[in-house]
Amino acid sequence: MTAGHDPVKLMKQQVGRSAAERVQSGSIVGLGTGSTTAFAIQFIGERLKSGDLKDIKGVPTSFQASVLAKQYGIPLTTLDEIETIDIAIDGADEVDPQKNLIKGGGAAHTREKVVDGLADLFIVVVDSSKIVDQLGTTFPLPVEVLPMAVSPVTRAIEKLGGKSELRMGVKKDGPVITDQGNMVLDVDFGAIADPAALEKTINNIPGVLENGLFVGLADVVLIGEIQGEQPSVREL
Ligand code: 5RP
Repeated sequence: MTAGHDPVKLMKQQVGRSAAERVQSGSIVGLGTGSTTAFAIQFIGERLKSGDLKDIKGVPTSFQASVLAKQYGIPLTTLDEIETIDIAIDGADEVDPQKNLIKGGGAAHTREKVVDGLADLFIVVVDSSKIVDQLGTTFPLPVEVLPMAVSPVTRAIEKLGGKSELRMGVKKDGPVITDQGNMVLDVDFGAIADPAALEKTINNIPGVLENGLFVGLADVVLIGEIQGEQPSVREL
């Protein structure tokens, strides 16, 4: 995978590399989903191949993450076999000044919340376009829903002031189906005043599996930036 001269890809590549450098030998690593984490997975694999990194195991957050891990030679494990995750690296769709996140652009937020939430150190990797003053202002909130409950959940969310859209497939007719066989509503709430309260309220609707608000989970946010063709990384 190369970034070429695409500035957004260059930022993602640089921040992915920077997170991959923080992985230590002997650790269990949560492997996030998305185009930024894909670069981190690639660099972790390269470090393993060069011998710079030894004896790690990955816990994938999606089918995509497990395919990439296998491609780059990262051994995998499951949550049945381990008790703790030392470090998780994952992307985000929005990051606010308190390091709260909206995730789920890749429809993987349910497994991501399980894995990222178990990590001793959860590192978020984003390009600078993801930084916002308030969550909900640039990206709708993804909500994973049981297929048979899409209509009642849509109505319940409407009562909370959210406008839902069923996420549709690309190069696939009909809705996106998650790795768990569910559907995703993308909900526009406008600016979210109280992310912690909304996260709980939505998850309390019967038929909702998980929503993409990650409140108080991120330990470190690494931001890829670019000036001219020169990418750099700063910490939030
Ligand atoms: C997947 C996610 C991704 O981490 C998020 O959408 C960011 O993706 P990318 O790094 O491709 O911008 O939450 O469910």
